[in-house]
Amino acid sequence: MKSYGCQMNVYDSTRMSDLLGAEGYSEAASEDDADLVILNTCHIREKAAEKIYSELGKLAIAKRARAAEGREMKIVVAGCVAQAEGEEVLKRARVVDLVVGPQSYHRLPNLLKQARDGARLTDTDFAVEDKFDTLPQPSRSQILQRGVSAFVTVQEGCDKFCSFCVVPYTRGAEISRPVGDIVNETRRLIDAGVREITLIGQNVNAYLGAGPGDQKWGLAQLLEHLSEVNGLSRLRYTTSHPVDMSQDLIDAHAGLAKLMPYVHLPVQAGSDRVLKAMNRKHTSADYLDIIGRLRAARPDVALSSDFIVGFPGESDADFEETMALIREVGFASSFSFKYSMRPGTPGAERKDQIDEEVKRDRLAALQALLEEQRQTFNAATVGRRIEVLFEKPGRHEGQIAGKSPYLQAVHVEGPVHMIGEVARVEIVSAGSNSLAARLCPATGEAAA
Ligand code: 5AD
Ligand code: SF4
Repeated sequence: MKSYGCQMNVYDSTRMSDLLGAEGYSEAASEDDADLVILNTCHIREKAAEKIYSELGKLAIAKRARAAEGREMKIVVAGCVAQAEGEEVLKRARVVDLVVGPQSYHRLPNLLKQARDGARLTDTDFAVEDKFDTLPQPSRSQILQRGVSAFVTVQEGCDKFCSFCVVPYTRGAEISRPVGDIVNETRRLIDAGVREITLIGQNVNAYLGAGPGDQKWGLAQLLEHLSEVNGLSRLRYTTSHPVDMSQDLIDAHAGLAKLMPYVHLPVQAGSDRVLKAMNRKHTSADYLDIIGRLRAARPDVALSSDFIVGFPGESDADFEETMALIREVGFASSFSFKYSMRPGTPGAERKDQIDEEVKRDRLAALQALLEEQRQTFNAATVGRRIEVLFEKPGRHEGQIAGKSPYLQAVHVEGPVHMIGEVARVEIVSAGSNSLAARLCPATGEAAA
């Protein structure tokens, strides 16, 4: 099972593993041992999609080698490339046996049975049944193996239609899972030892799910309810859209101690002209206003964002407005990309595409600024006392590693029995990708 792209795919990959586990499959350490290879693919940028075809080229060689030994290897393309390209995948890569979309993977066992006699199949239907209802639950040991931090999908799809993005086409319309299902899944994870839950969705803060009675619950209400689950230490949610950043969600950051003070809120660009062309439905002032209200609610909140440079028509002045917005906000971490033309999206139709070199230069300048801000943010934690959720043994003997509230990797000298616990540490130094810390004596002192 190989997962590409976003957290949604990571979650879907674990669910496919659970599903096939119930059919007698177990995960192979590498593709050389695998009877079945599933690539859970990403279509967000051209590069991501093309990567799949080069991976399939390599798998074709492995499949032939196995066939020469009289052993079979079935190859499945799942996820967003499957959804976007459908049968084209079968045409372009002879090695593929099965193409299955993100809304139909619960039908995998059946599809694999049909593919047994050499049939090559595509299933990219948006299912009428609820795929979550038909997926088996993972066992306690499976959950533990995956660690103390888990994703729970609460919402899928997108109705926003940003003019650069394929998601509304590959993942379909926004739908929210019912509150009861999410609570049950969360409880099961917590009972098995999970301590941190990240609620995920392409537009997670557009969540509006069926609650008790006829009520519809928003994300703030869901977070409040989940924060009362015993045994849960931390809650997060991602990815949010600025237009759905309601005041009650902002207020939840003030009121819920378990909700981490770290918000991923993509802005994409800082120029209102570009934001309008991107069909983002917010201005840079709207974005800054949200950041101001988040900081008022939770003064220690840190922000991360996604940026696209070189959207069609973006001038030097527009780009400078993005740089100015970054300087004004100050991000702890970010993802940034060159605009990539995606078939079927309005952005790809535009005649004023930006030169590759211009995009490259803008991306380099933007990433240099974001990297400087990331380093500054990390350096500012040195000397501070913060809480860390320990997740795994560290790289060196006697060390354990975990995450700060801001998703920074932190390692300390400490006993492995602390894995799964939240403990206060003092940050000693900041490296380029992780923080070194020491455990604070358990005196109940308040965090700085
Ligand atoms: N080109 C470049 N980046 C894109 N993203 C989405 N579509 C494109 C595209 N066509 C980026 C956005 C989004 C993130 C997941 O991927 O920044 O927030
Ligand atoms: Fe894509 Fe925009 Fe929807 Fe995000 S909000 S998934 S960027 S269309």
